[in-house]
Amino acid sequence: MNIDWGNLPFGYFKTDYNVRSVCRDGEWGELEISSSEYVNLHIAATTLHYGQGAFEGMKVFRGVDGKARLFRWEENGKRLQRSADGIMMAPVPLDLFHKAITTVTQLNKKYIPPYGTGASLYLRPVLFGSGAQVGVKPAREYMLIIFVTPVGPYFKEGFKPVLIQLVRDYDRAAPQGTGHIKVGGNYAASLRPADRAHKEGFSSVLFLDSKENKYIDEAGPANFFGIKGNTYVTPDSNTILPSITNMCLRQLAKDMGMKVEQRHVPVQELEEFDEVGACGTAAVISPIGKIHDRKTGKVYEYCKNGKAGSVSERLYRKLTAIQYGEEPDPYGWTEVVEGA
Ligand SMILES: Cc1ncc(COP(=O)(O)O)c(C=O)c1O
Repeated sequence: MNIDWGNLPFGYFKTDYNVRSVCRDGEWGELEISSSEYVNLHIAATTLHYGQGAFEGMKVFRGVDGKARLFRWEENGKRLQRSADGIMMAPVPLDLFHKAITTVTQLNKKYIPPYGTGASLYLRPVLFGSGAQVGVKPAREYMLIIFVTPVGPYFKEGFKPVLIQLVRDYDRAAPQGTGHIKVGGNYAASLRPADRAHKEGFSSVLFLDSKENKYIDEAGPANFFGIKGNTYVTPDSNTILPSITNMCLRQLAKDMGMKVEQRHVPVQELEEFDEVGACGTAAVISPIGKIHDRKTGKVYEYCKNGKAGSVSERLYRKLTAIQYGEEPDPYGWTEVVEGA
């Protein structure tokens, strides 16, 4: 196998196996191993018509000691259960989830990028209604599929600040809707504003709360945070996805002696931050260099020297060092996958 690990995009790359399980009338079946990239799906499956589908995104890292490590898999498992509950799908028991992610990692171990390349193995669990319905009702059959794909380092030329567009004419999720869970519909709703932002030269969109349009919600498929002096500030909102990366950064910020605030963040406060960033599994932290308010034309500028802020950089280094087994893991966030 001759893979240029360091230059892989964040995209689909065929691997050897995926794993699957089907839940019929509340009973999950045996985990099946498949080498097919396709599913045979009923034409009336609820996922196709009514959007009964959710997913997760997590990574396996080849550490400095050669071991493969999962990162906070229980949090992804619990979030998938909350997503299932939110749109009335069968929840995946955590033991089945664990068996599925470890099995698929072991089966595809040759696709776990070597240590030092900055690349990792991305795991994509998908859960969807596969049973037939025509009326708007939850399915009686669900399918869990987990496939993997190696992904390159997010920042190929180093930890570089990105440009973000603040939008006021699109909402990602309704105030009492599904923004807090990882269901497909939220992502469908974000495609149009994201595409426009890309065409206008931005890497992502910053959404405001959809009720009052006053507070910062999320930065595309990532949470938002700001650093003000010795304080880490991140929005508290029921329309954003609780990011596992953000959860880690809040802990690491506290460990670094910082104050952590999770609260409403009014747009005007963008003027007051020393550093701002987006955080999530894909990049850990994307430092934000500029935010353009598309409607008012106002520009908020950070990283004036073209470099990420020092607090963001320290948080990023600390978290990735734990993921790659370079530093102690005091909270037990990583789990070695035996035989992978
Ligand atoms: C909408 C949204 N917000 C935030 C995140 C970041 O979450 P995590 O840190 O768990 O990857 C993601 C990615 O999973 C996302 O899709």
